[in-house]
Amino acid sequence: QVAAASGHTVVLVDQSEEILKKSTKGIEESLKRVTKKKFADKPEAGAQFIEKTLKNLTTSTDAASVVHSTDLVIEAIVENLEVKNELFKRLDKFAPEHTIFASNTSSLPITKMANATTRQDRFGGLHFFNPVPMMKLVEVIKTPMTSQKTFESLMDFSKAVGKSPVSCKDTPGFVVNRLLVPYMMEAVRLFERGDASKEDIDVAMKLGAGYPMGPFELLDYVGLDTSKYIIDGWHSLEPNNPLFAPSPLLNKLVEEKKLGKKTGEGFYKYK
Ligand code: 3HC
Repeated sequence: QVAAASGHTVVLVDQSEEILKKSTKGIEESLKRVTKKKFADKPEAGAQFIEKTLKNLTTSTDAASVVHSTDLVIEAIVENLEVKNELFKRLDKFAPEHTIFASNTSSLPITKMANATTRQDRFGGLHFFNPVPMMKLVEVIKTPMTSQKTFESLMDFSKAVGKSPVSCKDTPGFVVNRLLVPYMMEAVRLFERGDASKEDIDVAMKLGAGYPMGPFELLDYVGLDTSKYIIDGWHSLEPNNPLFAPSPLLNKLVEEKKLGKKTGEGFYKYK
């Protein structure tokens, strides 16, 4: 959405037409929200902006067949290294020589993905934040093999889509999640110990620390499955780090498929 809205030609790829339809609808709705604010006094210009953005966007269920015409691939699939590596390995065969590959992973090592391809120097991380149309940050991740030219292209692309990039080495969680995920897990542990209710913890962090959402609201927003993938991955890397300890409550909710806002229930219930 943000790439198309800033004039880039985008092919959105997913596994089925049904998911793509749902995604396109989500983009249309989000564009309406953005437009309402951006073109408050000029509804006609707003309608034109939406039309132009949607013209830049096509969809496909076959990544290999569309990758030949791309300069940049941004992968944002399931947080599973094997699945990501398999995709990158396949796309590497069909993508032009110059094409840069980037992962939007929140926690997995970019270096390992780059090593699944033959383009280690044209590989980096581009980590966006939910909700992407609103959040201004992008983390640009440079592995030891990422070339300076690739790094600069990724920084330039981030600015071209209207974001403020920061750079970080390929370390677990980069900057934001390395700080945010242990904080959210500590909130769950506080609740598990019965020290405070989840509602009070959320109010406390909103009113006492100025966060726009409390940790439980944010966990539900990000997705409990995603949060669990992240913490489980780090726990396996550093089993003795108490900040990375899994939470029985989080595990139980994920097992019950209560994944947060997207499934209608997580720590809270949604209509
Ligand atoms: N598309 C377009 N616009 C959107 C939007 C979307 N998906 N979601 C919200 N907005 C807009 C609304 O239209 C609204 O615009 P307005 O000011 O003109 O009315 C504005 O954002 C504020 O929205 P709301 O009034 O509905 O609600 P809030 O004031 O609570 O703001 C929020 C919503 C921007 C999501 C805010 O609560 C917030 O900043 N939350 C924290 C988000 C956060 O921390 N994100 C990082 C998560 S970590 C992550 O993503 C990393 C991953 O790897 C795990």
